[in-house]
Amino acid sequence: MKVAIIGGTGSQGLNLGKRLAIAGEDIIIGSRKEEKALTKVEETLELLKEYDDIKMVGMSNEDAAKAGDLLILTVPLAAQKATLQSIKEFVGEKILIDATVPLETAIGGSPARFVDLMEGSAAERTAKILSKTGAKVVAGFNNISNSHLDNIPEPIDCDCLIAGDDNEAKAQVKELVEKLPGVKCLDCGKLEKARMIEKITPLLIGLNIKYKSHYGGLRITGIDF
Ligand SMILES: NC(=O)c1ccc[n+]([C@@H]2O[C@H](COP(=O)([O-])OP(=O)(O)OC[C@H]3O[C@@H](n4cnc5c(N)ncnc54)[C@H](OP(=O)(O)O)[C@@H]3O)[C@@H](O)[C@H]2O)c1
Repeated sequence: MKVAIIGGTGSQGLNLGKRLAIAGEDIIIGSRKEEKALTKVEETLELLKEYDDIKMVGMSNEDAAKAGDLLILTVPLAAQKATLQSIKEFVGEKILIDATVPLETAIGGSPARFVDLMEGSAAERTAKILSKTGAKVVAGFNNISNSHLDNIPEPIDCDCLIAGDDNEAKAQVKELVEKLPGVKCLDCGKLEKARMIEKITPLLIGLNIKYKSHYGGLRITGIDF
């Protein structure tokens, strides 16, 4: 399966790409500029040269959306709509994991504060933008910090909460997510649950700032999942 990371040149997308590539996935890094994606991939392949069989290529976001079997969106909220509109015609009925968090930074505010969206959550906004495509939107990776992802080969001390309206899609996402070492994936229910999942992130960012860490994460206990 080819996993295409749209906006994959940034800290969240590229680090997710590294971890999933180490786990054996076939990764496509997407960018607005193909050249930027190619450069980031070249640097990453050099960085991961001790690992065998890393499969990672760079493309424009449009080509990545076309070539990928499963898509992951990792762009800031301010870029969410334009990015989705640029790939919309290539998404079809694919699964799209949305990592977008509506941080107040989108309007010049604090990364430790949430900004309310009319649609309820960034993932619901994505679903609305892609509503005519048949895409299966799943909120995920919102609470795992890029520092955790970048801390290779250490296990990632954080659970991944997901939400979405398609059970089959969520089962596939869980299988993918749990390829990340240390991560357990919990299906929280319908896509509207993204409203709560996304809100945890600015809380964690605030805790990181307060306690001078980069590794704030969360674990759900007392539930067998
Ligand atoms: N960083 C984290 O620890 C973390 C954790 C959980 C969730 N998230 C969420 O994941 C998403 C990505 O976070 P990030 O830290 O990786 O973001 P980022 O590094 O700021 O941006 C990611 C990529 O998005 C594209 N982009 C940036 N600004 C854009 C614009 N104005 N218009 C179009 N494309 C633009 C760029 O790709 P190109 O220039 O190559 O097109 C950039 O490399 C965010 O929604 C964030 O809230 C992040």
